[in-house]
Amino acid sequence: MGKKILVATGGGDCPGLNAVIRGIVKRAAQEPDMKVYGCVESFNGILRDEIDIRRLTESDVAGIHVQGGTIIKTTNKGGPFHFPVRQPDGSWTVEDRSQLMKQRFDEMGFDAIINIGGDGSQRISLELAKLGFNVVGVPKTIDNDLACTDFTFGFQTAVEIATEAFDKLVTTASSHNRVFIMEVMGRDAGWIALNTAIAGGAEVCIIPEIPYDPRIIANKIASRYQNNYGFCNIVIAEGAKALDGKVTGAAPTAVGDQHIKLGGVGEKLKAELEAIGLEHDIRVTVLGHLQRGGTPIAYDRVLATEFGVKAVELIKEEKYGNMVVYNHPKISYVSLEKALESPNFVKPATSDLVRTARGVGISFGDR
Ligand code: F6P
Repeated sequence: MGKKILVATGGGDCPGLNAVIRGIVKRAAQEPDMKVYGCVESFNGILRDEIDIRRLTESDVAGIHVQGGTIIKTTNKGGPFHFPVRQPDGSWTVEDRSQLMKQRFDEMGFDAIINIGGDGSQRISLELAKLGFNVVGVPKTIDNDLACTDFTFGFQTAVEIATEAFDKLVTTASSHNRVFIMEVMGRDAGWIALNTAIAGGAEVCIIPEIPYDPRIIANKIASRYQNNYGFCNIVIAEGAKALDGKVTGAAPTAVGDQHIKLGGVGEKLKAELEAIGLEHDIRVTVLGHLQRGGTPIAYDRVLATEFGVKAVELIKEEKYGNMVVYNHPKISYVSLEKALESPNFVKPATSDLVRTARGVGISFGDR
């Protein structure tokens, strides 16, 4: 029997979203009477007063696997259960539009949803599944913080971008005898920082999972200069915490956004090092959204395509309420409940990556 599938991309964008969409559309085209529709700007396309849902055919997705971003747009605000609504007095409230979504979904004859997104989006997938929607989740995020999968797509591209930037900072740091602090994304997970530090040959790597002591970092920097290296490169994750356990950032300002805006910990560390008395010229570079933009590397194009094809296969087999995952070398699936049980953070005590980093002399600012 044919199936009508609604595809949404939710949360922050990342390289590989279009490759997933292409994989979905091309695989669905091999089934008799399976049709794919894009819900524009995550679920806003079906929730807004003016519905915005677009048919996606093979010609619509031709060649898009090399493009960054998402052709059906995304948002990390709101959603079916917290839809932002402006009041006559100009203020905003949120309302639950999930029943409206179900009504419209049924009226338009949809059978299933593929929701491509990170932990926030997959929590929405789970809630939708509980309401009776046939949902399959696809894990996306540069942060790599979703459990049950070796990697989320987008992550390897972010690491590549960060490493390329880091390599450039190393040459200028060594020319000027400077200390460079490069701040990378990742929210509460240190995966981007840790991989970049090892790939780039950093002296110091600060991640959220290992609280840092600035005095230990200052000693590491001092020893670099005493040993005549004359420069030092530090990677710090945006969610890094000093011994007080506090993250650096600002409260969300956009309506419907529940996340603290992380950022500024690189400058904070610089100030801490200067307060300790470090006299070297310290410069901070914040990579920001560069890590989320542009062309996905080949690895992410492959993973994203595998995820897209598998999502359609799960729908064909009516294996709903699941999220596709990658456990080398297999692409399979786990229940949404299982996928969301706990996040995927670096586990310092058992991590081979942390052991490797320490093995090549990288300091985490903890000992
Ligand atoms: O989750 C992906 C991510 O890029 C995080 O690494 C970062 O903290 C956050 O999104 C930034 O979100 P926004 O684009 O809303 O500033």
